[in-house]
Amino acid sequence: MKKIKRLIALGILTAALISPFPSAFQNGNQALALNNNLGLTPPMGWNSWNIFGGDINEDKIKQIADAMVSTGMKDAGYEYVNLDDNWMANPARDVNGKLIPDPKRFPNGMKALGDYIHAKGLKFGIYGDRGVTTCCNVPQSGSQGYEEQDANTFAEWGVDYLKYDNCASDSNLQAGYEKMQSALLKTGRPIFYSICCWYFAGPWIVDCGNSWRTTGDISDNWGSVAKIIDENSKSASYAGPGHWNDPDMLEVGNGNMTDTEYKAHFSMWCLMAAPLIAGNDLRNMTGTTKDILTNKEVIAIDQDAAGVQGTKVSASGDLEVWCKPLGTDGTTKAVILLNRGGVSSDITVNWKDIKLSDGSVKVRDLWEHKDCGTFDTGYTANVPSHGAVVLKVQTSSANTDIMYGDVDGNGVIDALDYSLIKRYLLGQISDFPHSNGKLAADVDGDGQITALDFSLSKQYLLGIITKFPAQK
Ligand code: GLA
Repeated sequence: MKKIKRLIALGILTAALISPFPSAFQNGNQALALNNNLGLTPPMGWNSWNIFGGDINEDKIKQIADAMVSTGMKDAGYEYVNLDDNWMANPARDVNGKLIPDPKRFPNGMKALGDYIHAKGLKFGIYGDRGVTTCCNVPQSGSQGYEEQDANTFAEWGVDYLKYDNCASDSNLQAGYEKMQSALLKTGRPIFYSICCWYFAGPWIVDCGNSWRTTGDISDNWGSVAKIIDENSKSASYAGPGHWNDPDMLEVGNGNMTDTEYKAHFSMWCLMAAPLIAGNDLRNMTGTTKDILTNKEVIAIDQDAAGVQGTKVSASGDLEVWCKPLGTDGTTKAVILLNRGGVSSDITVNWKDIKLSDGSVKVRDLWEHKDCGTFDTGYTANVPSHGAVVLKVQTSSANTDIMYGDVDGNGVIDALDYSLIKRYLLGQISDFPHSNGKLAADVDGDGQITALDFSLSKQYLLGIITKFPAQK
């Protein structure tokens, strides 16, 4: 029987190799990452856009760099100081086509600003655009046709991070972003590549950038935060060390949400392993804003080395439970009880919903900074409207199942190794034979991947995973 099973498996594997999606069984996260060794955990820093818009100058940015150190933000892990749009002169290039900063607002130039930032032990980020102009529309400000020259200019200035926008651009999205990727790699300087094209544009982006925006621009209100959480979760399985979904920069401290909402916003960005790029005026923070942005226990969720993006595990109306595995021994998870509704409510996480066995599980509340005790089947907390309770839960015995996986509605196959608590992106099925785009698929406990084409009511055996890529 075993032998027959093995023969079937061999047949399936052979079929997989001649199928239109053989790479689905070859690629692990490592193979998919942009190979510049940056962003092994989500980047942390600050960006000028959310608070200053285009109103930026050298003095302000230097003061922000100073504040990053004096407020304890640097100690909490924030390192990039990033200029956004409108740093360039008008027109933006000199006679040789080289980008130049606005001479009035940046009189000492970008190399000097980068040096100032570096001297503080911080890193320097800049902004560009793949089209003919940036979103602020300054003539000649786009990098289209100037990719190599601009990448060299950035490297010469000591830039460590490039946010690359999508305004005034042609329809060759992938080609445009790939051009800048290779130009950056060619410079030889490690530059974090932050793609800003406002939606998850396809699996190619995972190879191309260290991060990619998954949504339109964030605004300083709860509706925007709630919408972005849902949008950013659709591509959760693509996140991993070196390559992250980017739900946009933080609005914490910008004044239009309550502190409860800012806490929930920050908590969810951490659970989603998002870049933590503060967007407030670090020179004038309230104590509460500072406490939110520098809560090291919550930041540790974001920065967990396993690099799994957390997802929603259960919901009842506006009351939701989200979970992110932490570490690699299978014992520890971050849990968020999220209340999107208008009134305070109890929310319960059941251990079975986060794949922990019943028994005594330790619970710690990361905003209260206190141990809550041990609980046998789950934990309930009262959560304020638009609030989040963030828990770290820990058990002594990990679930030893070898694997579990699934294929989502977009055909993305991922698998979770319980023993290691790592998520592997195995590939994407773009076209089933005659599927008309309607499909559902599943990876079972034996690693067998099957897919059901609803329109034809046929079942396809797509292959079998016997080992996770990283175990090869
Ligand atoms: C776009 C981006 C924003 C910001 C502005 C600057 O809208 O999505 O994050 O960079 O451009 O003009």
